[in-house]
Amino acid sequence: MDTIRHLSGFGNEHASEAIAGALPVGQNTPQRVAFDLYAEQISGTSFTAPRGENRRTWFYRLRPSAAHPPYRRTESRGLSSGPFNEVPPSPNRLRWNPLPLPTEPTTFLEGLFTLGGNGSPALASGAAVHLYVANASMVDTAFFNADGEFLIVPQSGTIRIVTELGVLEVPPGHVALVPRGVRMRVELPGGPVRGYICENYGAPFRLPELGPIGSNGLANPRDFLAPVASYEDIERPTRVVQKFQGNLWETTLDHSPFDVVAWHGTHVPYTYDLARFNTLNTVSFDHPDPSIFTVLTSPSETPGTANCDFVIFPPRWMVAEHTFRPPWFHRNVMSELMGLVHGVYDAKADQFVPGGASLHNCMSAHGPDRKTYEAAVAADLAPRKIDNTLAFMFETRWVIAPTRAAMESPALQSDYDACWADLRKAQVPAKEGTPS
Ligand SMILES: [Fe+2]
Repeated sequence: MDTIRHLSGFGNEHASEAIAGALPVGQNTPQRVAFDLYAEQISGTSFTAPRGENRRTWFYRLRPSAAHPPYRRTESRGLSSGPFNEVPPSPNRLRWNPLPLPTEPTTFLEGLFTLGGNGSPALASGAAVHLYVANASMVDTAFFNADGEFLIVPQSGTIRIVTELGVLEVPPGHVALVPRGVRMRVELPGGPVRGYICENYGAPFRLPELGPIGSNGLANPRDFLAPVASYEDIERPTRVVQKFQGNLWETTLDHSPFDVVAWHGTHVPYTYDLARFNTLNTVSFDHPDPSIFTVLTSPSETPGTANCDFVIFPPRWMVAEHTFRPPWFHRNVMSELMGLVHGVYDAKADQFVPGGASLHNCMSAHGPDRKTYEAAVAADLAPRKIDNTLAFMFETRWVIAPTRAAMESPALQSDYDACWADLRKAQVPAKEGTPS
């Protein structure tokens, strides 16, 4: 990370030029741009979106993106898209082991595997959850997603994301967001990788409101890092693959599309180090709702009801007095997909392992497993640090319908329910007049 320069701040109007003088001053489209670069706008929200939500970027590039041959359908492999209706959504609690790393050469794009999702790109609403495994860098290939943005959560191995706006390096413990439409190429500087992706079809992720918390806390805006302009002047056949309405389409250019010499705008990729998250929680009693751990949110049209939230469970002190400290038993109208980057999640003692995933859909009852429960009710409530852990959740207002491949995957655990079996019945005094 030290060798890569960044621009700091969430939602900022950033500006960057790889060659001095390439960025127009005082206007977006001069009659002739410096060096005869082409000016091109990418809009991530409608032109008329409110100022605070408006996302657009101006590119100054060697060739306009419009110069391309027709796209043709191409194989999607393990990548699926909404509407998710291959199999009836199951009300059961589901949990998967990590996907094995590939044995054949597999790129990030080839190694995508969709667990499930909701909504649809056609309606610009909902989200999909993908896992990725890869052991080869994408070479002379670019990918972009017309259906939504990618929030990438590496679990193992660093990924280097080359984008039209510059380069980001993303190790486990950090996340990256690649906005809708922005071209990307994923390279593996340190060998095989595994991770999670939330593909957000809805409103772009943003920082949550802080309400009574005040003007600081949770994820602070200045810790979000955008790349600086960095371009390729390469004349070599390059595949460009796009996801459009659920399918992959590809075309071939005779040059690298990563040819943006300068840019300015708000529709930008970024990384965020989750260790920078200013974790808040009780200093008296009772565990707040897990929304206290929200990093990013994609709102829906219903205030307070997210299309998708990204929530983390990072290292933190537990100090609550006379309190059951782990996440409590609950049934939630929202649907919860959890992953684990490293360590142990404090509600699950066993079998929820790094790289695995669990799904608790709308109203499915869940909470700590028996071992965690029994330990927590007996625990000495001295201040305790939960360390060396990083779990996260994609929480969405709609049911996450698994794909057929996810339901038939050998990674799906058959005995997840067993972790709540044998929870002891509470002992109450016999009710007077109750027939025995
Ligand atoms: Fe939950």
